[in-house]
Amino acid sequence: MSQPNTPLQPPIRKYHDSDKVRPMYARHSLLGPTPRHSIPRDGMAPSTAYNLIHDELILDGSSRFNLATFCSTWMEPEAHKLMAETFDKNMIDKDEYPQTAELEMRCVHMLAELWNAPNAAETIGTSTIGSSEACMLGGLALKWRWRRRMRAAGKDPERNGVRPNLVLGTNTQVCWHKFCRYWDVEAREVALEGAEVVTDPERAAAACDENTIGVVSVLGSTFTGHYEDVQALSAALDALQARTGLDIPIHVDGASGGFVAPFLQPELVWDFRLPRVKSINTSGHKYGLVYPGVGWIVWREAADLDEDLIFKVDYLGGTMPTLAINFSRPASQIVAQYYNLIRLGRSGYRAVHEACREVAIELANQIAELGPFEMLSTGLDLPVLAWKLKQPSNWTLYDLSDRLRDRGWQVPAYRMPANRDETVVQRIVVRNGFTHDLAGMLLRDMKRHLDWFASQPGFTPSPAGVGFHH
Ligand SMILES: Cc1ncc(COP(=O)(O)O)c(C=O)c1O
Repeated sequence: MSQPNTPLQPPIRKYHDSDKVRPMYARHSLLGPTPRHSIPRDGMAPSTAYNLIHDELILDGSSRFNLATFCSTWMEPEAHKLMAETFDKNMIDKDEYPQTAELEMRCVHMLAELWNAPNAAETIGTSTIGSSEACMLGGLALKWRWRRRMRAAGKDPERNGVRPNLVLGTNTQVCWHKFCRYWDVEAREVALEGAEVVTDPERAAAACDENTIGVVSVLGSTFTGHYEDVQALSAALDALQARTGLDIPIHVDGASGGFVAPFLQPELVWDFRLPRVKSINTSGHKYGLVYPGVGWIVWREAADLDEDLIFKVDYLGGTMPTLAINFSRPASQIVAQYYNLIRLGRSGYRAVHEACREVAIELANQIAELGPFEMLSTGLDLPVLAWKLKQPSNWTLYDLSDRLRDRGWQVPAYRMPANRDETVVQRIVVRNGFTHDLAGMLLRDMKRHLDWFASQPGFTPSPAGVGFHH
């Protein structure tokens, strides 16, 4: 029963307290602990969630200052717009989004033509999430091809003791080591010797036997940006075939170079002009100039990809072939790749890459002039420069890398692969958007840190670099 003398209280109106009205940084969700380990009981206003996450991500630093990555960090506003318009599309639903599927195939055939496939309009290929997935597919196609070759020769590829192998340099990217482990293929590694920075073709050919599914050649080493000599490798494998009858195919890992060499070094013969090159991969998100999330693989001819590796599904409406490892993927990256191809054209890609090469070469010259560094690559293959220390000092490249972070530059220091791992190098990948102006600022920062090291005779090298000065 209500008490006659107690006035009725109106419900407390908490509008003034609501996150919608309170000033942003006085909102309850931003004052309390940030959800970390469990989904919060209640949500928060979209703008609050946006600010909370946006602010945390400030700590990531600017991707444009990341000189370690090969991946694109700048695209045109029109590309952003197209990507935003297609975020909701799943490229695998080819029946639902036939035009996206059409754009994907146009890209495949344009790349096949760029890489001089004998019948570019008819050959086969696919987009992937990146070069790693493309390399898995390339490796699998080689494995299947080897099995058929063995069976055709009356040999059982499944019999005990027989293990396929892939010949590759120790300088190959980790995706090839993953391929070998995940798909139970022996990684037959050819070590770098002496001052080598890429794999010697003769030693690669000599490592082949009847269980070799193929040889990987890298167009644009991840370590230094140097191209491997695919033509010399092909010739060495021709000679091997003439001697032994072994017909060993080549897969070119053109993660970076597949989109650079056709524009900057058109005279270099590394692609399907060499009949032994059966497949090529590239990363659309590296020098293909698209944001991360797209790679490509193209086979020389449709027959170079075993039908067994193509699946047909009908649960998305219509029957469609699928040959990638991943299934669902955003359409945006494919759309953006097609945008770049037609927006830039061959002359546009050339202009972008020439600008990068110019910056790389000039920066390489200036870094060489600083004194303590010996250049290992100067931007002549990929627009990538790498250097090592001429002689041991009281600081290492790891220390320099650390100090460069004080203004946000990320310039990694790392060891060369096995057999050359006493050599520590530092590398810069010059990408679309890294201008002479930015390069000049980086150079000034490098000088500032060298002066600082010089003023600190008591400075001792960080443990990571000890023993790996050169
Ligand atoms: C030569 C080479 N192959 C493969 C990859 C893997 O590419 P992604 O990052 O596109 O998977 C890279 C990445 O840097 C690379 O440099």
